[in-house]
Amino acid sequence: MNSPLICMTLTGKTLEEDKQLVNRYFKYIDLVELRVDYLREEEQLYARKFPAMVHLPSILTIRRDVDGGLFSGSEFSRTCLFSRALAFADQDKAKNFAYVDFEDDFHIPSLQDAAMAFGVKIIRSLHSMKEPIYNLKDRCMEMRKTGYEIPKIAFQPKKLSDVANLFREGSQMTELEHIFCAMGPEGLPSRILAAYTNSYLTYTSPDELISNTNGIGHTDPITLSNLYNFRSITRKTRLFGITGWPLYKISGPEIHNSGFKKAGIDAVYIPIRSQLVSEALSFAEQIGIEGLSITNPHKESVMYYLNEQTPEVIQIGACNTAIYKNKKWYGYNTNAYGFKRALEEFLGPIKIKRKKVAIIGAGGAAKAVAYILKQMGARVCIFNRSLNHAKQLAERYGFEYCSLEPECAPILDEYSNLIVQTTSVGGSRETKNDNQNQPEQNDPIYFYNFRGNEILFDILYRPAITPVMKRASLAGCRVSNGYKMLEYQAYAQFKLFTGQDFEEGSEEINFN
Ligand code: ATR
Repeated sequence: MNSPLICMTLTGKTLEEDKQLVNRYFKYIDLVELRVDYLREEEQLYARKFPAMVHLPSILTIRRDVDGGLFSGSEFSRTCLFSRALAFADQDKAKNFAYVDFEDDFHIPSLQDAAMAFGVKIIRSLHSMKEPIYNLKDRCMEMRKTGYEIPKIAFQPKKLSDVANLFREGSQMTELEHIFCAMGPEGLPSRILAAYTNSYLTYTSPDELISNTNGIGHTDPITLSNLYNFRSITRKTRLFGITGWPLYKISGPEIHNSGFKKAGIDAVYIPIRSQLVSEALSFAEQIGIEGLSITNPHKESVMYYLNEQTPEVIQIGACNTAIYKNKKWYGYNTNAYGFKRALEEFLGPIKIKRKKVAIIGAGGAAKAVAYILKQMGARVCIFNRSLNHAKQLAERYGFEYCSLEPECAPILDEYSNLIVQTTSVGGSRETKNDNQNQPEQNDPIYFYNFRGNEILFDILYRPAITPVMKRASLAGCRVSNGYKMLEYQAYAQFKLFTGQDFEEGSEEINFN
């Protein structure tokens, strides 16, 4: 089978708008899909002109609302639109549509005959917006009435096992041309790894119009090419990934995929969104993923499924890296290493042995921080919204604990040689522009007045300067965000994944 093509779906309101987008993305795509249902009504009549405007093979699609499109007219008017767009074929084939998308239940013999006569390939599509579809090979055989059509099946998975099934069936279909995609964020692996499912093409959308299609899980062609190295993915490419929920704004793909590229390793790292870590692990086993980054909220629950784990994972009570080898899952924690290296670099010659240190928060990240601060000999007090969580973590290390309230300001003052902020408060998802008057929503220690000689380490890195960092800086404190911690934990993960050191230094990662 040939390598999968990159198709860009065009959902602009005018042909001209779509043409501009094609020009912008030209070098990243192999073909385009003109979604006539998104065009203004008067523009729909001139769809015929589009292939000659863009000089790229074009798919003609008029998607009905029941199949996730915008076309709500009658089937008669849709048939008329198809006829207009396919009629008066040019001698020069490049000026005609190269493909037309007819749904599985749309059989108009005259249109099919016209398409075949003009050499327009038919994509026979089946969409299921709510349910997964099984027995994909049989369905394809049923859909492929003439032998001339490329069957396309797109469905909304209910669970990752539905996506795994698509991989299993697609990987066995090496002879029969087909297009497979699982929709939504859970379906993203099927779009990035189209080579693994032997899919004829993968659909993308231009960034400018991504909101029209990101519900069904499109990414833009530049991300697909540059971030995931789509064009070099083959069935031999080694697979790694990250799992969590909801898995917004992750940095792992940028770090790891750039690391693979620099080291010349044929591997790709992809997001695997899952509410249950058990499903992510079995998905990984089924499609051949060798290693996973584990992020919120699975760092603790993943421990139930590990066959072996390092003493550090057991002591910390959290695992952020899982390697699958010889049918066993091995768990590691690289957050602790990342924090230690970043903190030591930040502190320089300053030692925190016997110094009084505050940890703000008692979640998964705080667990790794507490483990390292204990190792470093600090005297720690854990401040947390839920006192119970603070107590549990503090008791493991013989630390003090306290709730996160204005009344605790004097105790925080006492433990303020170093303040390590580990909650998600002040992170870009929590930082809202409209609550300038409610600092407590963006600053977990809003009640604390910095004197200027405290050292603040915020493990967040997006935004690069969190509200509490800004406030501390203004008071004269030394501050650091968690960017280096993120990098260092990823480098350690990279070593576990590949056995090779990450080539440090030259990556430019955009966190905004
Ligand atoms: P992580 O693994 O990144 O640490 P987590 O385990 O969900 O994520 O932990 C989040 C931490 O942020 C917890 O300490 C949580 O406090 P609770 O234990 O009381 O839940 C803290 N946190 C989250 N939202 C907060 C808020 N709005 N105010 C104060 N603390 C908050």
